[in-house]
Amino acid sequence: MSDTEHVERTPDLGSGHPRRDPVGASGSPRYDSIGDRYSLTRREDPLLAERILHALSDSATVVNVGAGTGSYEPDDRHVIAIEPSDVMAAQRPAGRVPALRGSAVPLPLRDRSVDAAMAILTVHHWDDQTEDGVRELRRVARGPVIIVTVDVEVCARMWLLRDYLPEVVELDRATFPTIDRLVGWLGGTVEVEPVPTTSDTPDWSLASFWAHPERVLDEAARRATSAFSRLRPDVVARAVASVGRDLRDGTWDARNGHLRALQEHDVGVRLLIARP
Ligand SMILES: C[S@@+](CC[C@H](N)C(=O)[O-])C[C@H]1O[C@@H](n2cnc3c(N)ncnc32)[C@H](O)[C@@H]1O
Repeated sequence: MSDTEHVERTPDLGSGHPRRDPVGASGSPRYDSIGDRYSLTRREDPLLAERILHALSDSATVVNVGAGTGSYEPDDRHVIAIEPSDVMAAQRPAGRVPALRGSAVPLPLRDRSVDAAMAILTVHHWDDQTEDGVRELRRVARGPVIIVTVDVEVCARMWLLRDYLPEVVELDRATFPTIDRLVGWLGGTVEVEPVPTTSDTPDWSLASFWAHPERVLDEAARRATSAFSRLRPDVVARAVASVGRDLRDGTWDARNGHLRALQEHDVGVRLLIARP
């Protein structure tokens, strides 16, 4: 299928980049243009890292697909990291293995050649290759396939999407596979676990904004979330202006101030652990 055909049947969700992933508007991987400051605000969340490590169990060999800057990769196993973006791979710290440049489809591995496969906060970037990519994870792993993703309908209830950015709900519905579809593609037995997002998480994903409306006003924080990066500039400007105004005049706190007292909140992050 050509890009032109894809653009014709892909709704423009205010993203400005209705293109196949991992290729962005510039013709290079999307994260080459949006990921340049990723490691500044997207650091590994220790609680999520612990849960992923627990799910990996005794797996000695692990493929990490959409590996990015190396967050959540175990450092006590043999890891193969696969990542399409040079810009993301360049931010991997010295302790991480270098990432092979590649995508989820096809994985350059034989059937059942690793103990486990993981894909963390990445499957929504695989576009029309999502199902094939998830089946690739299942094909290459003898043991668990671990996916961290977002239940869009839970996330849609968060104040930011509900009150300021309905465009993101539309974008998310078009890009995130539903949990049921993921479970069906994975087969076998799949545990689906909610992962509350803590207010002090160092991984400033869009989910982390639930406790931090001020982040909407922070260009670096917005830029390291693909949702903001894929919106049209006028949509972002509208949301920034509205949140800024509601913070200044007290409207945000009157509506949502109770959130400031919470230490964690379920904004839809889900950990899937699939066993064959
Ligand atoms: C939000 S980042 C997550 C990175 C890392 N897994 C983490 O948790 O920090 C999404 C990553 O998916 C990668 N990606 C995009 N399209 C991909 C594809 N088709 N196959 C594999 N990875 C892809 C991006 O380049 C980016 O590094």
